[in-house]
Parts: sequence; C-alpha cells; structure tokens
Amino acid sequence: MTAIEQLVQRWDDQQAAYITHREQRFEVMLDVIARLAAAEDGGRLTVLDLACGPGSLAGRILERFPDVQVIGLDYDPVLLTLADTWLGDRFTAVDADLARPGWETKLPPGPIHAAVSSTALHWLKPAELVAGYATLGTLLPSNGVFMNADHLRYDPQTQPFLTEAAAADDERTQRTARAAGAQTWDEWWADAVAVPALGERLAERERRFADRPPTPHAPLGLHLQALGTAGFAETGTIWRYYDDVVVFARR
Ligand SMILES: C[S@@+](CC[C@H](N)C(=O)[O-])C[C@H]1O[C@@H](n2cnc3c(N)ncnc32)[C@H](O)[C@@H]1O
Repeated sequence: MTAIEQLVQRWDDQQAAYITHREQRFEVMLDVIARLAAAEDGGRLTVLDLACGPGSLAGRILERFPDVQVIGLDYDPVLLTLADTWLGDRFTAVDADLARPGWETKLPPGPIHAAVSSTALHWLKPAELVAGYATLGTLLPSNGVFMNADHLRYDPQTQPFLTEAAAADDERTQRTARAAGAQTWDEWWADAVAVPALGERLAERERRFADRPPTPHAPLGLHLQALGTAGFAETGTIWRYYDDVVVFARR
C-alpha cells in the first residue's frame, strides 16, 4: 500500500470512529445513485461531492459506477490535494468555500445530475446552509437528487433521553474504534502533513480556517424546509441511526 493509500484508509478508520455505521450510510446513498444511473441514458452521470475531503464518498461512487464523473469541492487545500492525488481522471477537484456566495461559479461547465455530502455541512452557519441549498436548487435539473449525510443533533432541551442515548453510542463507537487501532483526528493530521506534497499546503489551510468557530446547530426540520424552499419537490430522510441522518431531496 502506498503512503497515500494508507492515509486514505486511516482517514476512513478515523472517521468511522465518529460514525457508527459509516459504510452503511454511504451504501444507501450509492443505491440512490444507482437508481438515477439506471434512469439516465448509459448511466453517464455527473455527481457533485460537496466538502469531499480526501474523497471517501467520491471514491466509493467512482468505484461502483464506471461511467460516472465526480466533481469534488472542498476549501481545505490539504484534503483536496489528497483527493486529487488518488481519485484518477474521472474526478475533478474544485477549490471553493461553501460559506461564501458564488462557489458554484468555480464548477466546471456541464450538467450536474446529483449532489452529495457527508459529515461536512454542519460547518456552515444556518444562513449559509440555506443559501447553499438555494444555489443547489438552481444547479440541479428536474429530478436531480441531493443527499446529505451528517449528525443532525437532537435538541437537549426537548429530547434529553435521545441526546444521552446518542452521546453514549458515540462514546462506545469511539472507544471500540480506538481499541482496534483507529487514529485520532490529530494523529491523522500529523501523518498527513508529513507527506511533503500535503505539508506544503498546511499554512494555507491554517490561514483559511483560522476564524471558523463552531456553528449553531441546524436541525433536520431546517434542512428539509430549506430544501423545499429551494425548489426540491420531494424531501425526506433515507437513513437514520440515532442523530445520524441521510437527508434526501429531489428537484
Ligand atoms: C469531516 S470532513 C468530511 C470529508 C468527507 N466528506 C468525508 O465524509 O470523509 C469535513 C470536510 O468539510 C470541509 N469544509 C468545511 N467547511 C467548508 C467550506 N466552507 N467549504 C468547503 N468545504 C468545507 C472540510 O475541509 C472537510 O474536508
């Protein structure tokens, strides 16, 4: 295994320590893309992976669908470089900030049939999320699909039992993963920036993310309403485990 392949594998292990059923969550998203591909002539879809990171979801899409192209958008120059290094020529990397209006102008020309995201959009403030969904509504064609997999936390005031149950599950998953050798976030980053082509982008990463405090929580209802307002005709969830949810929307 090359150093890059090892990093990607360790990213997956590290992320799976925070997401109890990460592979199952990806699987259900891939199954929806399979339905879209079956309906599209020759299955030649273009899928946009928003905040793709090192390309976990993009890589799974490219592997399962040989005729699909993936555009991976991210604002982290280290993670985007890593994605671009291993994902091959059906992957196009786009360096853009989803928190700022106009990110869609950085996309390559051509239709986008579906958009996906995993473990990322909680970084956006609710107003930025709503604006991003409005943009997606203009990008995707009729019947185009969007899916977002993320923790959409319970409300501790009105859902104290569920909040505690979800936290206990998170804790159990992290403990099990660490016992099996999964790296922490910091350990993974230390290994990543030791690779010269990635380490040379660290200063730019730190500059870009210097002033990004944790954002207020956007609950499931906000996601569904914002997508409806953005012109998505059908919205709902396609998977859920405690507070880990895959939101679905069809234009
Ligand atoms: C936990 S990682 C998830 C990466 C990948 N989607 C996965 O599931 O493994 C969160 C990603 O969101 C990206 N991100 C955070 N804020 C962003 C923004 N404003 N614009 C674009 N990407 C952003 C980060 O750079 C990072 O790659």
